[in-house]
Formats: sequence, C-alpha cells, structure tokens
Amino acid sequence: MEPHDGREQWGNRAGFMLATLASAVGLGNIWRFSYVAGENGGAAFLLVYVLCVLAIGLPAMLAELALGARARTDVVAAFAPAGVSRAWRAAGALAALASFLILSYYSVVAGWACRYFTGYLDGSLARLPRETLAADFAAFLADPTKPLIWHVAFMAATGTVVAAGVQRGIERAARLLMPLLAALVLLLAGYALSLGGAAKAFAFLLVPDWSRLADPGLYLAAIGQVFFSLGIGMGVLVTYGSYVGSGVRLPGAAAVIAAGDTAFALIAGLAIFPAVFAFGLDPAQGPALAFETLPQVFALMPGGRWFAVAFFFLLVTAALTSAVSLLEVPVAYAMRRSGRSRLAVTVPLALAAALAGIPAALGTGVWRDIKLLGRAPLEAMDHIAADLLLPVAAIALVAFVGWALPRQETLAAADIRSAGLARAWHGAVRYLAPLAIALMLVANAVASS
Ligand code: PHE
Repeated sequence: MEPHDGREQWGNRAGFMLATLASAVGLGNIWRFSYVAGENGGAAFLLVYVLCVLAIGLPAMLAELALGARARTDVVAAFAPAGVSRAWRAAGALAALASFLILSYYSVVAGWACRYFTGYLDGSLARLPRETLAADFAAFLADPTKPLIWHVAFMAATGTVVAAGVQRGIERAARLLMPLLAALVLLLAGYALSLGGAAKAFAFLLVPDWSRLADPGLYLAAIGQVFFSLGIGMGVLVTYGSYVGSGVRLPGAAAVIAAGDTAFALIAGLAIFPAVFAFGLDPAQGPALAFETLPQVFALMPGGRWFAVAFFFLLVTAALTSAVSLLEVPVAYAMRRSGRSRLAVTVPLALAAALAGIPAALGTGVWRDIKLLGRAPLEAMDHIAADLLLPVAAIALVAFVGWALPRQETLAAADIRSAGLARAWHGAVRYLAPLAIALMLVANAVASS
C-alpha cells in the first residue's frame, strides 16, 4: 500500500506497533536494564523507572510519534514546517547524528552477543571451565580481529534488513522476531524461576529498600534508562511515526509500546536475577553482567548451554531490530535529500557506521591505549551519544513540539480524546519533560567533570 506521494508506509496498525516495539526492545532491556537495575538496588530503581515512564517517557514518546505522523517526512525536514525558524533543523540533524553514532557502537556490543551465541551453539563456550570464563571474555575483547569481524557482520545484517524496505524489511523482521522473542523471554524467565533463586529475585525486584531513594544517582539512572530503552530523542520515533497510515490513533499505540517495552525489561530481569541469586553471584556487576556473570550462571545450571543459546539469540535479534531502527533514521534523510534509491543510500551509510564503530571494536584490544575524553573508545562514544547528544536532542524535540508548533496543531496531531489528558500531556511535553532532561544533562556534566 503506497500513499500518493510514493513514500513508504507500514502495512497496517499492528505492523507499525510491532516494528516500533521491536525498535524499543533491544540491548537496553536485557543487557543495560539488568545491570543498571542491579547497580541501583533493584526494586527502588524499578519503582522510579516506572514512574518516569509514565510521567516523562510516554508523553515524550507520543510527542515524537505525533511529530513524525504529522510531518510525514524524515527527522530533519520534520523540524522545518512552514512558519517555523529554520534553526530548528539543527535539532533534527543532531538527532540523526546521534542515531548514527549510537548505531556504530551498539553494533559492536551486539557483535559480542553474536560471538557468545555462536560459541554456545557450537558448544565451544559450554566446554570451558567456569574459572576461565572471565579470562575468555577478556581474551575475546583483546583479540585483534574477532570483535571487529562480528561488528561488521552484524552491521551487514542490519543493512540488509533496512535495504529491503519499510514493509518488506523492517516490518517483516519485526513480525517474525517479536512473537518469538516474547515467547523466548517468558520461557527463560519460567526456567530461571524454577532454579531456586526465585524468592530472592522477587524480593530484589519488588521489595524496595527505601533508603535507596535518597540517592540522586538513582533518578538519573532511571531517566537515562527510560530514554535509552524507549528510544526517545534519536529521531527513530519521528521516522517510524512518519510511516503511519491515516486512521491510526497514536496515544493507545504509544501506551501499548511503552508498557510492552517495560514488561520486556521486567521479564528479562526475571530471567536473569533468579539465576544470578540461585548461584550466589552479585547482581551489581555493571556492564559485564550479561557477558561475564551470566556465562558463570550458564556453566552452573543444568541445561545451561541451551539456556545460553536461547539467551544470546534473544540478545542478538532484539539488538538487530533496534539497530535497524537506528539506521533507518539517516537512511530516510539521505533518501529524501539525494532522491536516490533505498539501496543506494543504505550501503554507504551502513559502511560508514561500520567504519565509525572501528575504534569501539578495536578499543578493547589493539587500540586499548587510545583514550577519548579519558575513556576507552566504546565508553567515550556511549557517553557522548547517550549522555550528551541524546538529552540535547530530546530537549529540542519536546521543546519543538511543546512550544514551536501551534498548540492546536500539536493537540490535533497527538489526537488524545480526553480533554483533561490532552492538557496533562501538553503540560508534560512543555514543562516536565524538558526540565527532567535538563536536570539529567546537568547532573551528568557535573558527575563527569
Ligand atoms: N531502545 C533500544 C534498546 O533498548 C536502543 C535504541 C535506542 C533503539 C535508540 C532505537 C533508538 O536497546
């Protein structure tokens, strides 16, 4: 189904929702959520996280989708309607840049997951003695070529899906993979809960240690995780919203996607923490949780090899549909700007993102002496993109929707039926969301200075 202007569209409402959910559900829900929640005490973090989703994440998500659905174009042009200062285009360009940068290193971490998936599939990782697993991870990271090869392979897969088109590539991948992922994560959680660590895991995730709420770092971690996980501020939702056909109501869709993304993170937590507790490991391990701690768990548990195969398959495919959405942002922009075909812009852009990811891929090995901003390349790129570009782009986005667009137009685009809710949403987009993001930005700057 093509609209009059020949621009691509989702096949139907379910396709749009599955694709957008598939973009949201990624490394952020499984790898990042589990370690950030683990570091921040579990239940107290989860409570604040859910409140932030409702008060900030959901309104910002609807704002971004509505902007796209109204503009029906890429993220840069969406910021440039008639009658609005052209300076806003810079905000769209920033979002496109941020998504490109995140894609470049996201693919590196996804490449690690590919390596673990294949290693458990062929059995080589399952045969390693437990004591050597951490050293094995370190050796993999230090290898001069392996992280790079997996990174390039993952990027090629991402480019292949995007090149196939909105309906035949992105939407089809989501339709195929999302139900599988949902079944898999439920299965993994069920199995993990049967291991004996269930009581501790539930207590960890559901019984808050209230004293944790006194830590300002917890709120920042929660807001940052909400933005990363829902994928707000990078133009992905503008771009995906721009492919929505007429007659799709966005508020309900946004609520379902936000709820689905949150449920996914929670259930992934229920797959990870019971296993961690059952074997007496520490959940506050940091980013290494999925790659260092979990293989220990897999080595200890009965049937661990197949649990690992399923887990890393989950990680790889969830990452793929998210990486696809990140690549689609600059692809949509380049297609409009150059007037060239999807394939003709996807190939060079995926290649460029693969090149941009090289420092991250080699920075754990042969380039380990290279430091950017005093950090290893991967951490530096994550820091610049997630802690800096992302919040700035997100503020620009909510400010644009809340202030630069005429109020009536904005409300019409968001299409909220209840007048009271519509007012609350507009208030959140105007005041609460920009303030909360600004706070996160300042606190990150202070923390890193
Ligand atoms: N939300 C994805 C995740 O949780 C990552 C992502 C960020 C995707 C930004 C798109 C845009 O992994």
